[in-house]
Amino acid sequence: HPNYAVIGHPIAHSRSPHIHTRFAALTGITLNYEAIEAPVGAFAATLRTLRLQGLKGCNVTLPFKPEALSLAELSSDRAQRAGAANTLGWSDQGRLWADNTDGAGLCRDLTERAGFPVAGRRLLILGAGGAVAGCLAPLLALRPAHVTLCNRSPEKLRPLLDRHQDLGVPLAVLPWGECPVHGFDGVLNGTSAALGGSAFSLPQGLWAKGAWALDMVYGPAAAAFLQAARDQGASTRDGLGMLVEQAALSFERWHGVRPDTNPVFNELRQIVP
Ligand code: ATR
Repeated sequence: HPNYAVIGHPIAHSRSPHIHTRFAALTGITLNYEAIEAPVGAFAATLRTLRLQGLKGCNVTLPFKPEALSLAELSSDRAQRAGAANTLGWSDQGRLWADNTDGAGLCRDLTERAGFPVAGRRLLILGAGGAVAGCLAPLLALRPAHVTLCNRSPEKLRPLLDRHQDLGVPLAVLPWGECPVHGFDGVLNGTSAALGGSAFSLPQGLWAKGAWALDMVYGPAAAAFLQAARDQGASTRDGLGMLVEQAALSFERWHGVRPDTNPVFNELRQIVP
């Protein structure tokens, strides 16, 4: 039985077992990390069974992240603001705790690895689903000048706004199709449009000179958005670094050791174009 796992539905294509197994090898930690598919509606039961079999911690992915948060006795502020957890573990007293490392992973990749500036910059975020909710509070902690949120379904923006309005960064919302035609210093794509096979067009002038673009998905799914950004002169990055960094932060929470993400990122880059 695994002592660490990622639980989702579907889960077959998860890169997490590979990443955590490599981190373990690099840090000299012994673990057995597996991908576990839970039936929809049976996340809690699956978690209980795995725990009885010796599970010490797990990552959680779609569609179980909100439920993972709700099951926990203890949860971090960033998980509460995200309304979702991607990392679970048990305290010494056996209490289930929940955290969300997605946003911190994104921020670490953006600032430390990509070298894209956020502090004092004007950001645009496309999307208002789980991916964006998971990242917003950590992004705001980097003190951008202001953040504009834009989503196809405008009703999703208000709750997101309400949960983050107290963080001291001005937030604005724009309905889809009314993306302003003035320059942003950074644009994050948190939509799943390309995963569903439908790209959207972006207005000219969206990026300011010297600006950057980041897509939260990686590989071919990020290609259309990042090409549009390059056409407007922006520097680009896909979500592979974010994937590796959020995994490293989960690893650190469980094992108390910070793995070197460079070799693992470089290996994955060979596989994911
Ligand atoms: P995730 O957890 O990956 O964020 P999600 O919660 O289903 O998944 O959110 C998907 C996001 O991509 C949403 O912001 C969605 O817009 P809606 O709120 O209008 O559904 C956005 N999205 C998906 N397909 C899209 C498309 N073809 N054009 C624009 N936005 C799209």
